[in-house]
Amino acid sequence: MTKLIGKISGCGSSVPKLVVTNDDLKKVVDTNHEWISTRTGISERRIATTESAEDLAFKAAKDALDASSLSPSDIDLIVVGTVTPDMAFPSTACLVQTRLGVPSGVPAFDVSAACSGFLYALDIADKYIKSGSVKHALVIGVDLFSRLLDWSDRSTCVLFGDGAGAVVLSSSKGSSGLLSSYIHSDGRHWEMLYAPMGEAGKVPFVKEAHKHRAHPKHCVKMNGNEVFKLAVRTMGKAIQEALDGAGLKPEDVSLLIPHQANIRIISAMQDRLKLPDEKVFSNIDKYGNTSAGSIPLALAEAVTSGRVKKGDIVLFVAFGGGLTWASAAVRW
Ligand code: ACO
Repeated sequence: MTKLIGKISGCGSSVPKLVVTNDDLKKVVDTNHEWISTRTGISERRIATTESAEDLAFKAAKDALDASSLSPSDIDLIVVGTVTPDMAFPSTACLVQTRLGVPSGVPAFDVSAACSGFLYALDIADKYIKSGSVKHALVIGVDLFSRLLDWSDRSTCVLFGDGAGAVVLSSSKGSSGLLSSYIHSDGRHWEMLYAPMGEAGKVPFVKEAHKHRAHPKHCVKMNGNEVFKLAVRTMGKAIQEALDGAGLKPEDVSLLIPHQANIRIISAMQDRLKLPDEKVFSNIDKYGNTSAGSIPLALAEAVTSGRVKKGDIVLFVAFGGGLTWASAAVRW
């Protein structure tokens, strides 16, 4: 019997309207464009004002569905990677289900894996597809990290932005699709990167926010230097795992789309694989680290701009709080 494979049949993305540049942040914390751009590669990010996680996830999902030429009634699974949902419950996936008009009874749920959230969601959807129980799954990554930022902490607030991306993963008997997919976690290192529950979502980005928040309890806490080293080491191994699982070599890779956390981490991945610039995708300069939104947001842009062609080998790799990490190889 021919094996089933999960094929990406459509991509979409969505970001909030408000652009916050490094110069804008200079007015909020003691920082400057030179430091942020050379240490991270980020020039600006999008910050939600009126937009919700549901809004961004819905728009990205709608675009992905349109690109796949399917209708909401074709979808039989929705999985959303997010750590910044609008509500503790219902899940973002349920909100997208009803807004998009995906039929009642279709399973819809969120997955919490921070920056690895989209690849976790993709891996889960792919397993359903391979089992034969799902034909078309909506896989979404969305995060509004601005909800978790302490705007007086320059070591974290300059790094993140808000955004979403989505794909439709469709069952196929061809040779294009997810060739390999791996997800991992190690809770021992959770304290390197975390955001406690509390008043999340109550304090928007405002210039005066830091004056009103002496002890922001719910905000992101990160040991940046240690996370940086672990990310480089772990993502390197994860890339190798995805390549080995698909029976590929680094020279087979057409495009690496890594989690957009820091341009220096991305460069380290590029050096490891000895890839030329044109085989590595980055849009971190425009969006910063959008957590679970990062990879599908980059993928949608890569596809729209013609960087991904039929038959290409596309490699994804992510690393985030948990700690979590994941990788996947796709034949387009
Ligand atoms: N502007 C100006 N100066 C700053 C800023 C800022 N925004 N932030 C820190 N500094 C200062 C520090 O205070 C320090 O000053 P000092 O030398 O006088 O003490 C100096 O800059 C150097 O600070 P470092 O933390 O050593 O800078 P580093 O080069 O390590 O870069 C960074 C910090 C960008 C956070 C880096 O460590 C990093 O990218 N880490 C990984 C983050 C990441 O990948 N997260 C991914 C997971 S996210 C998720 O899962 C949700």
